[in-house]
Amino acid sequence: MSKKIIIGNWKLNPITVDEAKTLASKVKHGSQHTVVLCPPTAFLSSVRYPNLGAQDAFWINKGPHTGETSPLQLKSLGISYCIVGHSERRTLGETNEMIREKILAVLNAKMTPVLCVGFGTTMEEDDLEVIDVLRTQLTECLRDVPTGRVIVAYEPVWAISSGNPYATKKMATPEHAEKIAIFIKTKFNIPKVLYGGSITSVNSKEFLDQEHLDGLLVGGASLLPDDFNIIIA
Ligand code: PGA
Repeated sequence: MSKKIIIGNWKLNPITVDEAKTLASKVKHGSQHTVVLCPPTAFLSSVRYPNLGAQDAFWINKGPHTGETSPLQLKSLGISYCIVGHSERRTLGETNEMIREKILAVLNAKMTPVLCVGFGTTMEEDDLEVIDVLRTQLTECLRDVPTGRVIVAYEPVWAISSGNPYATKKMATPEHAEKIAIFIKTKFNIPKVLYGGSITSVNSKEFLDQEHLDGLLVGGASLLPDDFNIIIA
């Protein structure tokens, strides 16, 4: 299997910095894949792991923007990846235009943006309808964006378990994810496409075995070190 990218999105977990440090210390280094941990912003400067990512960033680097975190600040902490446009942020009102600005700011800070798409899809839709939703998201989020360093994560929103490691929703099949990855790569010139949504230590290999899927975005299972170590092994 070629080298893939596996990103653990801890979302708003855990509660304390000590728990965060312990969790990171239990995740193996030296996997055959590139493994990136995305703890909450509050813990980014305390957690030690070879590759760290942020879960979001603002599109302006400095100034009167209370509560925001800028790409240049993240870069100064040694962060190299940044998730952008996660469905849980889109639910709060983030638009494709805001996400586009964030991607540009992340690229300008010399970090790798991980653009999440799939919000707005439903379980009942066929592949063509899903592609319609994705086409709009990708066209708007990537307008005038140089795509050579952009990673896209396809996360059908109905397959995401909202960070609960024990909940597994109906997931997408690896074949469906592969078809969508080929669409994203060929139509939008994206070099790497990941799949995310209810990935577990049991189903991860089937997705990693797909030639056109370049890795995984893992939520709930990334909070369970034993499971996550199986996924990245
Ligand atoms: P899940 O979350 O693995 O818990 O479904 C994935 C994500 O939201 O990134």
